[in-house]
Amino acid sequence: MTPTPTAATRMDGKCVVLTGASSGIGAVLAGSLGRAGADLVLVGRDPVRLGAIARSATKSGTRARVYPVDLADTSSTRTLAAKLREENPRVDVLINNAGAIQHTFATTPSGDERTFGLNVLAPFILTETLMPRLAASGAGRVVNVSSSVHSMGVMDFEDLDRRRAYGGWAAYSQSKLALLLLTYESARRHADRPVTFNACHPGFVRTAFGEEGSTGMRGAFFGVAKRIAAISPEKGAETPLYLATSPDVAHISGAYFVRRRPHRSSPASRDAEAARRLWEVCEQRSGLTEVPAVAA
Ligand SMILES: NC(=O)c1ccc[n+]([C@@H]2O[C@H](COP(=O)([O-])OP(=O)(O)OC[C@H]3O[C@@H](n4cnc5c(N)ncnc54)[C@H](OP(=O)(O)O)[C@@H]3O)[C@@H](O)[C@H]2O)c1
Repeated sequence: MTPTPTAATRMDGKCVVLTGASSGIGAVLAGSLGRAGADLVLVGRDPVRLGAIARSATKSGTRARVYPVDLADTSSTRTLAAKLREENPRVDVLINNAGAIQHTFATTPSGDERTFGLNVLAPFILTETLMPRLAASGAGRVVNVSSSVHSMGVMDFEDLDRRRAYGGWAAYSQSKLALLLLTYESARRHADRPVTFNACHPGFVRTAFGEEGSTGMRGAFFGVAKRIAAISPEKGAETPLYLATSPDVAHISGAYFVRRRPHRSSPASRDAEAARRLWEVCEQRSGLTEVPAVAA
C-alpha cells in the first residue's frame, strides 16, 4: 500500500473529536483538519492555548468548539463524553491523542494513577460513550495515538497503578501497551459496527511531551534528545492524520501504523486474553457500567 498525501483529503462538515489539541501533535492535527474543512471538537487542559489553536484552525471558515477538561480524572471525562454524545448526532472521527508521562506518582480524584487515567481510561470512556455517534457516521474512525515504547511495556495486572514501585517510564510504557490492547479489543468487540479502530506511533517528536515535572538531569536529557533526534510536530502529525482522513485506510481496523504504514506491534500487545482482562478492568474503573446509559 502506498500512502497518499493526507493533506489533500477533504473533511468538509465531518465531525472530528480531537483530544490533546492544545499543544504539539494535536495542535498540528487541529490546524490540518480545520483547513480540510472538519467541524472540530477540541479537548485539552489549557483553555487559553486551546482557544488560540481553535481560532487559528478556523481561519478557513470551519467551526471549532473547545472543551478544557482534565482527562486524567475519570469523572470529568465521563461528563465530557456524555456532553459530546448529547451535542453531536454524529462523530466521524475520534482521535485519542492526549497523553503524558508522569514522572512522580500521583492519583486522580477517583484513585487511579494519573498515567493510567489519562492514557488508558480516558480513551476507553470517550470511545465507548461515543460509539453510537461513531456508528451513526456510517464510517466512523477511532485513532489512538500510542507509542513505540509500548514494546517495553509490561501489564502488571496485580498493580496497574504501580503503587509498589513507581517508575514514570514503566507506567507510561504500560499505558501505551494498554492502549494498543484496547485498540485491538475494540476492533474485535465492535466488528459488526461501521467503525474502524487503529493505533499509531507518531515518531519521536519535538513537543512539550515529558517536560511537565521535568527538572535537573531529566529535563536536560529531554531537551538535548529532542534537539538532536526528534522530528517536527508537523511530521509527527502525519500518521494520525493519515489514519483519520485517508481513503487508503477506510476499511482497515485493528492495526498499528508507523510512518503511515502498517507495522507489527509487540507480542504482548497481541495477547487477546490480556486485552479481555484489561477491558474488564477499564469497564469497572471507568464507572461506565455503574451509571445509567445516556440516551443512545
Ligand atoms: N512527542 C513524542 O515523541 C511522542 C512519541 C510517542 C507518542 N507520543 C504521544 O503523542 C501524544 C501527543 O503528545 P505530544 O508529543 O504532542 O505532547 P504535548 O505537546 O505534551 O501534548 C500533549 C497534549 O495532551 C494534553 N494533555 C496532557 N495531559 C492532559 C490531561 N490531564 N487532560 C487533558 N489533556 C491533557 C495536553 O494539554 P495541555 O497542553 O492543555 O495541558 C496537550 O494538548 C501523546 O499521547 C504522547 O504520548 C508522543
